[in-house]
Amino acid sequence: MSLLKTEALVKEYKRRGKTFRAVDLTDLQIEPGEFVMIEGESGSGKTTLLNLLTGLTEPTSGKVYIDGISLSDMSDREISEVRNRKVKYIPQGDSLLTNLTIRENILFPYVISGHKPPSEERLKAVASSLGIEELLDEYPAELSGGEMRRATIARAFIDSPELIIADEPTGSLDSLNTSRVMSIFRQIADNGTAVIVVTHQKETLGFASRVLKMELGKLSPV
Ligand SMILES: Nc1ncnc2c1ncn2[C@@H]1O[C@H](COP(=O)(O)OP(=O)(O)OP(=O)(O)O)[C@@H](O)[C@H]1O
Ligand SMILES: [Mg+2]
Repeated sequence: MSLLKTEALVKEYKRRGKTFRAVDLTDLQIEPGEFVMIEGESGSGKTTLLNLLTGLTEPTSGKVYIDGISLSDMSDREISEVRNRKVKYIPQGDSLLTNLTIRENILFPYVISGHKPPSEERLKAVASSLGIEELLDEYPAELSGGEMRRATIARAFIDSPELIIADEPTGSLDSLNTSRVMSIFRQIADNGTAVIVVTHQKETLGFASRVLKMELGKLSPV
């Protein structure tokens, strides 16, 4: 059984009265420890696909299975539980809460789920691997775009999910921090977590174990 599997997954949108398929997949399977990168032109359907895989968007037809269970058979509560524990999503753009410090932002998922937070030691180790250990008590408004991005990534890395999905996580980072972040993705994949990353940066593709290209909603191997 695959960690993640899709079956004839389709998402249709309408524009100017015309229906088009933003996502139109033949089957996709992701196994533990795989690091899959998805590239493709703007508008090709990458974010729509990630939203389907994380249950944020409902497909027009087809299914997404996590550990063999279809998202469509789960209640909203079960889907949130999957999102809190098994599948961490780092969306495109910034998603930090502005009235919380970086530390509070990183710990926020535990506050809402009621799960036991990680130790201070673990928090510091993750922050330091991303070069933000000095920023834990600052507010997002006091950080640069790249620092905010790394804080968002720290929030996903802090416990060991089964799957991490990230939408252009290094889009606003310089080359040093890009390779820092990609090396951590590589490391957690080597430790058995599956990783799916959307990227526009060709120089990062070498970190992946598999590269897929998205074109007009369809995925193909590169
Ligand atoms: N809610 C929506 N309603 C209608 N059309 C949408 C909606 N969301 C996305 N689209 C369209 O679906 C297509 C795929 O969008 P998507 O955001 O998945 O692209 P993308 O590959 O992530 O692009 P980028 O690299 O610019 O982030 C685009 O043509 C977009 O305009
Ligand atoms: Mg996108």
